[in-house]
Amino acid sequence: MKVGVFDSGVGGLTVVKSLLEHKLFEEIIYFGDTARVPYGIKDKNTVTRYSLEALEFFKNFEIDLLITACNTVSAYSLNELKEAAPFDVVGVVEPGILALENTVEDKNANILIIGTKATIKSRAYEKPLISNQYSNISACATGLFVPIVEEGLYEGEVLESAMHHYFKDLEHPDAIILGCTHFPLIEKAISNYFQGNTQLIHSGEAIVEYLEHHYDFSKKFEKTELKLFASENPEALRAVAKKWLDL
Ligand code: DGL
Repeated sequence: MKVGVFDSGVGGLTVVKSLLEHKLFEEIIYFGDTARVPYGIKDKNTVTRYSLEALEFFKNFEIDLLITACNTVSAYSLNELKEAAPFDVVGVVEPGILALENTVEDKNANILIIGTKATIKSRAYEKPLISNQYSNISACATGLFVPIVEEGLYEGEVLESAMHHYFKDLEHPDAIILGCTHFPLIEKAISNYFQGNTQLIHSGEAIVEYLEHHYDFSKKFEKTELKLFASENPEALRAVAKKWLDL
């Protein structure tokens, strides 16, 4: 099976990492729209337009499935992509919600959703969780984490003060949905900030669980061919991939 993975930039490589670890695909075609990142501060029309342009790129490959690793795209533009695509399109929001529901049984648990401004504004995670009777949900746009991760600051002063800025007034969460591609890279720091007793829901792991449930992966691929494309500076994307994915 060949899969396309789309993200606004390099962050979706965190999803690729999970896909590679689980040996699900023969080939992964990754496209990061590095020329126009970040998507998380843009409006729905713009994100949808960019996403449909990216879809045209993926039509050049014989993929069986497209994963939108970007939470912002998944929150804003998944329906439009599904309508326009000649192959299946799967976002990361629904898998994230299912993963949360599988992890947190207590409907009164304190759940925190973090993501870009766009993802939080869309309430894409919040609404289904409220419909499923989760009663104690808060959501926080933590956009500063995106450039911090891009700078490679996975720990230290800058990240600590950003976490303090966003989290200082919050009640201790029982679970956090990491609703952004970049956040798994600071998972450890976030977990430490909350003294290690908060469950973290990671898009990469959530999507693997979702795919294994919905598609037939009885055949595992010892070697996955990974093709990396970017709308600007693909060398930089490849360098990040080398570091993050241990290539
Ligand atoms: N990929 C985006 C997301 O997961 C984060 C970066 C951006 O704002 O484009 O929402």
